[in-house]
Amino acid sequence: MTSPSGPADAGAPESAVRGAFSSRRVFILAAIGSAVGLGNIWRFPYVAYENGGGAFVLPYLVALLVAGLPFLLLDYALGHKYRGSAPLSFARAGRRTEPIGWWQVGICFVIAVYYAAVIAWALRYTFFSAGRSWGDDPQGFFFGSFLKAGDPGVSADLVPGVALPLLAVWVVVLVVMALGVEKGIGATAVVFMPLLILAFLALVVRALFLDGAGAGLDALFSPHWSALTDTGVWAAAFGQIFFSLSVGFGIMITYASYVGRRTDMTGSGLVVGLSNSSFELLAGIGVFSALGFMAQAGGVSVDEVASDGIGLAFIAFPAIINEAPGGTVIGLLFFGSLVFAGITSLISVIEVVISAVRDKFETARLTATLAVGVPTAVLSLAMFSTTSGIYVLDIVDHFINRFGILLVAVVSMLVLAWALRALPELAGHLNRSGSLPLGVWWRVMLAFVTPAVLTFILVQELWDAVSEPYEGYPGWMLGLFGWGVSAAVVVAAFVIATIRWRDGTPLVPAEEGGEF
Ligand code: ALA
Repeated sequence: MTSPSGPADAGAPESAVRGAFSSRRVFILAAIGSAVGLGNIWRFPYVAYENGGGAFVLPYLVALLVAGLPFLLLDYALGHKYRGSAPLSFARAGRRTEPIGWWQVGICFVIAVYYAAVIAWALRYTFFSAGRSWGDDPQGFFFGSFLKAGDPGVSADLVPGVALPLLAVWVVVLVVMALGVEKGIGATAVVFMPLLILAFLALVVRALFLDGAGAGLDALFSPHWSALTDTGVWAAAFGQIFFSLSVGFGIMITYASYVGRRTDMTGSGLVVGLSNSSFELLAGIGVFSALGFMAQAGGVSVDEVASDGIGLAFIAFPAIINEAPGGTVIGLLFFGSLVFAGITSLISVIEVVISAVRDKFETARLTATLAVGVPTAVLSLAMFSTTSGIYVLDIVDHFINRFGILLVAVVSMLVLAWALRALPELAGHLNRSGSLPLGVWWRVMLAFVTPAVLTFILVQELWDAVSEPYEGYPGWMLGLFGWGVSAAVVVAAFVIATIRWRDGTPLVPAEEGGEF
């Protein structure tokens, strides 16, 4: 095999050059660690609730089967066959498709910048839980005393209460990244995932015993079948699946490139996909049991206590902690779980960027970690620890999920299926050591069904976004942080792809039928 890291490494084992997970178990834990994140605990319960409760579960499961699992396996096939970061894997699949990989890298960079801020809030709230620092007014405390949020706009007023935990999050994450694939990413997953599962199970069990839990579960699971005709519900379900499974934006390509050649990738994908969705449903059950309790305590209906995503975690939970027996423990478990889940996901997001920089510029891991991590952390601190951070975060998150993740997913599926006609070869690759045979159904999903559904959803979303300003934000903010950021990522992708690969990086196998 020719080393992707150039002549200096010629002859070095692949694992020593790019890094590798030591076993399938470590890979699966790391992949679940990436998938289970803020999206499961913070985002899913509210999205499910707002989109028809029980009726959401059906589109959600359809999205998992139609788009989530097939696309997860596509990501695995790319990374595992081409053994590179997202840009290198795309460049090897078809020389001119490299910009798609950089587009995914750009999306990860943007997500990392704001994702860390939400983990920092959760870290601070873990400590707040002990003393119930929010007093009787969690909403006023969150926006006023904690975030010191002013009017929407851009401000340079630093909020030390956010900046310090955010700095701590970045220090921890960069130390993990510097330690490498097995000792950093793998070891973190091996330690954090069992802790997360235990903490969350304890939380859910505790929440189920709260008075009024049943009413909360009714609100989450009672079907509203009319919601099925609403395309917005389907958009929400597909968006949730992509974000939550970590598919379509380079993460699973990168992780799969660190897995041994004979590993069963299809069976692993099934384990990861089903674990993620189980965790998500568990999160829904825990959060809504708690909301049911709160509704009963306040004498209101459940739909009056649940607010938007940010509010649900950082406003409703403190209110529950104030009222519930054993509230302090619930708070520590909930916010602690958010921190654990968030860190193992943030690690995977930033690894997409680090891995791409390493492949392209042949840098050592420490150099790449610092070159990527320091600017990302500085931007994260500058944008999201100021009094305007929450508004910018809301806009960037909304736009990059739709016109970043979903859009690049459609483009990559169409390019791989129709321009490169790569699906049969990729299926053949996974089938060689996979326990779940990929047949015609997989190719039909990725070539026809999933792109058609996603295109329909995206057109609807585009129409909504241009016909009504998102959440009523000023046009210049939406233009800059929404449309501007989404477009800048694409432009940057094309520019970076013009840089030549180093001579030691093979883009085609040395021999006919050879492997990378
Ligand atoms: N998959 C990660 C999450 O759900 C990004 O938060």
